[in-house]
Amino acid sequence: MKPTDLRGILQYIPRFREKTFVIAIDGAIVTDENFANILLDIAVLRSLNIRVAIVHGAAGQIRVLAEEQGVKASDLDGAGITDAETLKLALTAANRLTHEILEGLSANDLRAVTTNGIVAHPLGIIQGVDHLFTGKVERVDVELFQNLLGQGIVPVVPPLGFDGDGKTYRVNSDHVAVALADALKAAKLIFITTSDGLFHQGQLIRQILVGDLDQILAQRKNEILPEILSKATYAAAACRAGVPRVHVINGRVDEGLLAEVFSNEGIGTLVYANEYQQIRRALKKDIRSLMLLTKQGVASDELVKRPRGSFEKSVGDYYLFEIDKNPVACVALHVYPEVNKGELAFLYVSPSHENQGIGRKLIQFAESKARELGLSELIALSTQAFNYFMSKCGFAEGTPDDLPAARREKYDQSGRKSKVLVKKLK
Ligand SMILES: CC(C)(COP(=O)(O)OP(=O)(O)OC[C@H]1O[C@@H](n2cnc3c(N)ncnc32)[C@H](O)[C@@H]1OP(=O)(O)O)[C@@H](O)C(=O)NCCC(=O)NCCS
Repeated sequence: MKPTDLRGILQYIPRFREKTFVIAIDGAIVTDENFANILLDIAVLRSLNIRVAIVHGAAGQIRVLAEEQGVKASDLDGAGITDAETLKLALTAANRLTHEILEGLSANDLRAVTTNGIVAHPLGIIQGVDHLFTGKVERVDVELFQNLLGQGIVPVVPPLGFDGDGKTYRVNSDHVAVALADALKAAKLIFITTSDGLFHQGQLIRQILVGDLDQILAQRKNEILPEILSKATYAAAACRAGVPRVHVINGRVDEGLLAEVFSNEGIGTLVYANEYQQIRRALKKDIRSLMLLTKQGVASDELVKRPRGSFEKSVGDYYLFEIDKNPVACVALHVYPEVNKGELAFLYVSPSHENQGIGRKLIQFAESKARELGLSELIALSTQAFNYFMSKCGFAEGTPDDLPAARREKYDQSGRKSKVLVKKLK
């Protein structure tokens, strides 16, 4: 699906209307040439009545400013020690960036304000080291933010916190984003970074359950690239705090934000707090989704092309595997009552969701349906995944003679020479 395809986007609108997204943007992205596109994407979100709050970082700008002024910053990202000089740099850099974002939002006709709604106190002395002006979020002025969001105003939040005595602290922007997303009960927290997402052992993680991410962080932290460790840690913290979906995407990819929010595939990493997975029977209105989902499998001859009419005739045989209501895989169970056999067909897992056990779940599902129906045997035909059926799912190689007569006729006519796989159920 192209993210700009309005029909595709329409299905998400009821789910996200009036929901809050917290978008945390790295400082380096604010000054990137693609930032104008991100602002446009935010304008699209707003036009769909999604409430948006923006948090931004300033590490890169603090570094540049320090170099320009010939001073050494004691810390860049608000996680270490912030001395008085660095706090001054952070104030200048953050305020400039906030201003740039406000300008960009104005250019897109979006109303926006910056606030003092992040209440912070000093991080304090940790293992004997005084962190000086580095702050920790104490609380978020929820009423202030909700009032703004309710009026269609985009709050722009710098990586700074304010205390009751009029003091300002430098706070890590990822930490601010999580605190804000948690306090506002955001539906999504989206980190827009310079990385394609979270990587583990050199591989981009497409999606990960928070429990699995926690496990990596606890046991194999060193396998996560240091530059994205903060995102990984805060993404996990956000999910644990109750934010259901946290995304980490590359802000230099045009349409990346819309693709992430409005497509099944996304472009970066999705960390999710719980699995909204389900297998459900397809309805007539799902035929288009089934055809779209399996288009690539048909093109590569893994699946036989079925005309729309053939789906319509037996739509109740098809099942969809959905994550967050997005179809990512499918299977069919055709029953041949005359021989008491079932055919498992049209098994397909979207390439972005392969190797997560979804194929096996669907086969187990079809198998238990077949058992419920009292069938004695499950058959499957495959040209490219026969090893999968045999090695992972307990099928054995059969012959075309195992097929029911009507199916055998079609098999001979097709000339596909698929392998016949058989699993005895009784
Ligand atoms: C075959 C298919 C259903 C597997 O789905 P999946 O959700 O990725 O598979 P699972 O996560 O359950 O299993 C992954 C394991 O199977 C292996 N596997 C995947 N495809 C395989 C294939 N074609 N042949 C042999 N093994 C395969 C993987 O290497 C992985 O092995 P591991 O667990 O040892 O690491 C999927 O790749 C697909 O849709 N293929 C195209 C359509 C197709 O051929 N359908 C069958 C016709 S009905």
